[in-house]
Amino acid sequence: MIEREFGVPFPGEAVEQSKWTQTALKAMPDGHLDWPALFGRQAPVVLDLGCGNGRYLIGSALARPTHDHLGVDVLPVVIRYARKRGNQRGLANLKFAVLGGRELLEKHVAPHSVGEIHCYHPQPYYDPAKVHLRLVTPQFLALVHRALAPGGRVVIQTDNPGYWKYVRAVVPVFFDFRELPGRWPDAPKGRTRREIIATQKKLPVFRAECNAKLDLSEADALALAEALPPPTFDADRRLRDLDRLA
Ligand SMILES: C[S@@+](CC[C@H](N)C(=O)[O-])C[C@H]1O[C@@H](n2cnc3c(N)ncnc32)[C@H](O)[C@@H]1O
Repeated sequence: MIEREFGVPFPGEAVEQSKWTQTALKAMPDGHLDWPALFGRQAPVVLDLGCGNGRYLIGSALARPTHDHLGVDVLPVVIRYARKRGNQRGLANLKFAVLGGRELLEKHVAPHSVGEIHCYHPQPYYDPAKVHLRLVTPQFLALVHRALAPGGRVVIQTDNPGYWKYVRAVVPVFFDFRELPGRWPDAPKGRTRREIIATQKKLPVFRAECNAKLDLSEADALALAEALPPPTFDADRRLRDLDRLA
């Protein structure tokens, strides 16, 4: 049976139960993840940080069997949904873990070991007391830069104008930044749950695809991160209702 989210088909369908897989990554190692050991082969690795219900990553794992995928989110309930759908689609190139995006990069991702890092609609945090929880900070971007293999790619997207203004100011310091106008050609109604809701509400969605600057060393990236401002922008509380829905 085809599942729908806000009228948009969810990628893939459940396969017969004997082909279900186990997408839960429950125990993190003390150090770096060993990608070939985790997925049983050598393949480019795609990360989705704050993956929510896994909509983008499940679609990517289905469309790109040549790539291995790991999604993390701090909310156990969304990871439960993501795992269930991933398992039922019989995907062996997909794992989900309950974990913060920054923590994943800082403790568990070896330098230059992943091909793509996606970050769709990071939580803007409207309450001033929670602003320090925002994912995209200069230190986070230095970790993203360190995690990417040469030629690696970052995708970042939000419907929050304040967050986007910040992203446009800081991301180009570490990455070659290409803003993408219009919708995703592979998913005009939205790649992710939040994007579908924002698009249906006719909110602008801002997105960019970036490549790590090759001439920036790890030490230089860390020094830049120390000098750049933290994300203290006003997230505009009027957008908060949409968050409750998403
Ligand atoms: C607005 S939702 C977007 C979810 C999904 N990417 C989408 O576009 O539909 C933001 C998600 O980020 C998660 N989140 C918040 N802080 C995080 C962090 N530090 N690391 C990982 N996930 C985080 C939240 O639990 C939530 O699922």
